[in-house]
Amino acid sequence: MNVFKTVELLQKNLMLIDKNRSIGFVPTMGALHKGHLSIVKKAKKENDLVVVSIFVNPTQFDKADDLKSYPVTIDNDLKLLKETHCDIVFIPAVEDVYPGNVQSSNFDFDGLDKVMEGAFRDGHFDGVGTVVKRLFEIVKPTRAYFGEKDFQQLQIINKMVEKGKIPVQIVPCEIYRENDGLAMSSRNTRLSEAQRKEAPLIHQTLLNVKKIFSEKDIKYIQKMVEDIFKSNTILELEYFEIADTNTLLSTNNKLPNTSYRAFIAVFAGKVRLIDNLALN
Ligand code: PAJ
Repeated sequence: MNVFKTVELLQKNLMLIDKNRSIGFVPTMGALHKGHLSIVKKAKKENDLVVVSIFVNPTQFDKADDLKSYPVTIDNDLKLLKETHCDIVFIPAVEDVYPGNVQSSNFDFDGLDKVMEGAFRDGHFDGVGTVVKRLFEIVKPTRAYFGEKDFQQLQIINKMVEKGKIPVQIVPCEIYRENDGLAMSSRNTRLSEAQRKEAPLIHQTLLNVKKIFSEKDIKYIQKMVEDIFKSNTILELEYFEIADTNTLLSTNNKLPNTSYRAFIAVFAGKVRLIDNLALN
C-alpha cells in the first residue's frame, strides 16, 4: 500500500498505471470504521486498483467546533486500510486541495441540497460538492463509491456528475450496521453507554415504518414516529421525513410508481445521528 501526501506525488504515481486498469475511488474523512471498510472491499472487488482519500474537508462543516472536534486517527486508519488490501491512500493538506482560498463553489443541485441535511447544515453540500469535484479531478477514477448512509450526499454527487458530465461511474453502497441495527458512524464512539443502548431505536423505528408503509397514510406514520421519540428521554428527534428517492422532496401523499425512502436525524445529547431506509 502506497501513501501519498501531495497531489504531485499521487499523480506521478497514477501516471505510471496502465490506462486500461480501472481505478475505484473511496473518498473519506478518516476515523475509519467497518462501514468505510465495506466500501473499500466492494471497490477492490470491482476494480484493478483502489484509491482511498482521507481528508477532513473544512468547507463542509457549518460549525467550527464540529470541524475542530472531528476525530483524527490516521495511524489506525492506515492499519485498517492495509488489512483491507487498499492500494493507494491519499492524505492531502488543505493547501493542496484548496490552492488559493479555502472556499466552496456554488452548485445548482436542482433543490436536492435544500432539504433535510441541507436545511439543517448551511452550505454543507456546496462544501461536499467542491471537495468531491476537486478529488475527482485529481484522482480521475473509473468508479467512485459512496455510502447510502449519507443518501442525500449520494444523490447530490449523482446530480453533480450528471450536470457536470464528469466521466466517472458513481456506485452506491449499502449501509453497514452494528448487530443491533445502529448504522456505523465515527460519531457512535462519542455516545455514552446509556445513549449507545438506546440508539438502535432509530433503525427499529425505520423498520416499523417500512412494515406499515403500504397500509397507513403518511400523516399517521409521521405522528407515530414523533410520539416514539417524544416518550424517549435520551433521544431527541430533529427530523423524520418520507421523501421521493429521486427528488428527495418530502410528501404527505403516496403516489403510484414512485419510490420512497424514510430519512431521520436524531440527537443523543450533542451527538447527531442520521439514518434512512428504502420503503418500497
Ligand atoms: P465520511 O463521513 O468519512 O464517509 C465516507 C464514506 O463512507 C461516505 O460515502 C459515507 O456515506 C460512507 N459511510 C459512512 N458510514 C457508513 C456506513 N455505516 N455504511 C456504509 N457507508 C458508510 O461522507 C464523507 O466522509 C464526506 O462528506 C466526503 C464524501 C468524504 C467528502 O468530504
